Formats: sequence, C-alpha cells, structure tokens
Amino acid sequence: MIGRVTFLKTSKLRTLKMSHDSAPSPLSSSTGSSLTGTIRVPGDKSISHRSLMFGALAVGRTTVKGLLESEDVLATADAMRAVGAIIEQLDDGSYSVDGIGLGSLLEPEQVIDFGNAGTGVRLTMGIFGSHNIAATFVGDASLSKRPMGRVLNPLREMGTNVIARDGDRLPASIRGAETALPITYRVPMPSAQVKSAVLLAGLNAPGETTVIEPIPTRDHTEKMLKGFGADITVSHNENGERVIKLKGQPELRPQDIDVPGDPSSAGFPLVAALIVPGSDVMIENVLLNEHRTGLITTLVEMGGDIEIINRRETGGEEVGDLRVKASRLKGITVPADRAPSMIDEYPVLAVAAAFAEGDTFMPGLDELRVKESDRLAAVARGLEANGVPCIETEDTLTVKGGADNIGGGTVTTHLDHRIAMAFLVLGMASHRPVTVDDGAVIATSFPTFTSLFEELGAVISANASEAA
Ligand code: S3P
Repeated sequence: MIGRVTFLKTSKLRTLKMSHDSAPSPLSSSTGSSLTGTIRVPGDKSISHRSLMFGALAVGRTTVKGLLESEDVLATADAMRAVGAIIEQLDDGSYSVDGIGLGSLLEPEQVIDFGNAGTGVRLTMGIFGSHNIAATFVGDASLSKRPMGRVLNPLREMGTNVIARDGDRLPASIRGAETALPITYRVPMPSAQVKSAVLLAGLNAPGETTVIEPIPTRDHTEKMLKGFGADITVSHNENGERVIKLKGQPELRPQDIDVPGDPSSAGFPLVAALIVPGSDVMIENVLLNEHRTGLITTLVEMGGDIEIINRRETGGEEVGDLRVKASRLKGITVPADRAPSMIDEYPVLAVAAAFAEGDTFMPGLDELRVKESDRLAAVARGLEANGVPCIETEDTLTVKGGADNIGGGTVTTHLDHRIAMAFLVLGMASHRPVTVDDGAVIATSFPTFTSLFEELGAVISANASEAA
C-alpha cells in the first residue's frame, strides 16, 4: 500500500540498529593458526544503498537478493520508508521494495537518523532535494563531523533550501525545490557520493542534468539508473573527463537485483590471508567493478598471490572468486590516481604494508581526511601504537614494513568501522595481540566480520587478556 510506513517482517535489521550507540566494546586479535577455508563476504554497501533508493523511486516491486544487512543500509531502508516506500524481508531472505515513484515522495514525519552512513545521507539529500518536501537529517558523532557542503552546494544551485549547522554539518534541514533546476556540475573532488547526489536530484528536475567528473569514481549510480530505465549517457569530453547526462523525470521501472559481495569488505580477509603464514583462502562472489579493484591490483604489485577465478557477469557487474595464499610482500609506491578505486581500502593496505619488505608510499590521500574518521591520522596513530613506523603528511602515508615487534597496542577507532577491522587484521599476524577500543562499529558495514574470521581460524576476543 502506498504511503504507509511498514516494518520488516523479521527483526533482523532492526536489532542491529545503532548498536554502537551503547558503551564501546573492545575487541582483540592475536596470532592463531593459518587462515583456511571458503567464505562469502556480505553484499556490496554501495549497491545495497542504491537498490533500496532506486527501488523506492520506481513504481512497483523491486526485489533485492544479497542485500547488506548492516546499520548503514538499515538507515537507508528507514529513510525510504519515511517517504512512503514499503520494504520487507521475504521468506527466502531477500527483500522487496514497493516503490512510490519519482515525484511522489511523502514528507517524512520524523527526523531522519542516518547513524554513521555518509553514503546514505548524501544520496538521500540528493533525492529529497528535488522533491517539494521538508526533511531534517541527523547522524552519530562521526557523521556530524563530516562535510555536507559538497552535496548541499550543488543542491542549493538546483533550488533546494538548506539550513545546516555551521560549516554545513549535520543536523541539517532541507526543503526540496518545487521545480528543481537541472544544472551542469563539475565535481570538485573525486567523490561518487557527490556525483550521485547531483544525478539523483536531477532525476526529478525537468530537463537535462550534466555531471562532469574529472577523476572517475565508482559508477554504480550510472549503471543502476540505466538498469532502472533512466535515460543516462556517459561520454568523455576533449579533456578526457567523464560527462554524464541524465534526462529528468523518467518513469523508473522496478528491477530484480542480485547484490555481489563487497570488495571493500573482501579486502580484510584478502590482506589477512596474505600476511598470516600458511594461509589459503577462497573468497567467493566478489564484485570486480573496475572502479573498485585498486586494492587487488596493488596487492598483486606487492607480490601477493591472488588468483581471480570464475570471472562472470551478474546483473551488469563483473564478479569473481578470489583465491589468496600467504605471500612475501614488498613495499611499493601506489599511484595517486588509483586512490578513487581503493579509497576505502587504505587502512587495510597500510596493514599489509606493515608486513612488507621496505617502504610503501601512498600519495593522493586527501579524501581520507573526511571519511568516517580522519582515516589518515587514525591509521598512522594505530600503526605507531603497534610499533609500525610510518610517516604521515597532509595527503600521503609511508609505511615502513618489517618492524621487529609488531602489536601490543590499543587502537582508537573514532567510530570508524574500517579502522576497527583493519587493526584486527594487523593483530592476526602480529607478534603481540592488537586491541581496538570499539568493535561494535563494525556493524556499520560488516556485521559478520568476527564470525567469518573465526570460521577461517582467526582468534578474535572480546576480552583483551584472553587474546593475549
Ligand atoms: C561511496 C563512495 C565513497 C566511499 C563510500 C561509498 C558510494 O565515498 O568512500 O564508502 O557508495 O558512493 P566518496 O564519494 O566520499 O569518496
């Protein structure tokens, strides 16, 4: 039924909600046996958010198999319900999204709480920004520090009214434009979230919205909108920049989506298998979109034994299985222009670099400063706390590999799931255990992290002294 807020049949997603709002729960990891076995990581976070959003904007029923059931995605499900979509879990575990249709969003009755989810809030601001509704967005302490101006500024150009906290931070309220202006927007930083927010606002603007992307970023919005029936084209201009043109006010058609495994989540077992001696791990069904595979390329250049098998196409995306064996890694320079294709993977790459021979130099990291934490600083402090020498500059990190007595430290996670997971991986190959101050944040993107690693033979403990 259109316009009614319903809740999940099962309480699975709901019970995960905001678990990291409670007291921090430290976790420790230490060396155990080699890691062996075959696993699947949960569904891709970027595609999961977009499946719920685009399903909500289509008229009719979209089904989503393999949806990532994590806090971030739950927040997006709630936001789409708040404007009238009906999202339920079906008996086979997949989800249905009964969309209300572009242009027909209802005004939310409550504040929209996005928790830790940057992608969720920024893309949703784009969608709401061209609908004549008012909405207020809040988030946790991490999200409330992150810059929203990068999305709110182009929305202002399109006619959205905004009231936001100083520096364009959350909490923020918007009233969407009555009739949004289609704009031409050159994305000033390499950000798929900004590109996507403008395109999603353009969906409900009459006429053509153009986004120019000087540095290519993940293209799930473009690909998936095309699948949903939008008139969207991608070409290159004379400077080699991507030019994306979208015709506004299409009728979006519901889709059946099969979400592949998240390559960013796969990065953790991938690196762990490379650095824990004797390991041999198969990670099945991983998304291999060319804008997401920078970590694999880099680890192979470092000498990692990673075989991609059974490459295939699912729902317009390339996927494959990764066979990874423990390897002797060597330090390299990671090209700066590779950063967008591995932007979320630098924390775990830094961990791989700690066990490599020689220095690993990572330039072009300015965007890491505005992630769930200042990730460049958080990684550097975490490495130092565990005896790994490194040099941090404004936008580079150099990790000096092969230190003698790695581990023994406690890492401050700053509400950043990837910092927590990366340093638990460090502990799996360290001389002494590694503790992260809060493991609950992992539920943001990878709720099955601990159980999957335990299946492979890793030792992760809620009690620091047990892991020791
Ligand atoms: C995402 C884009 C990236 C990435 C985030 C997911 C997306 O953020 O870090 O985890 O789904 O569009 P930026 O666009 O800010 O680089």
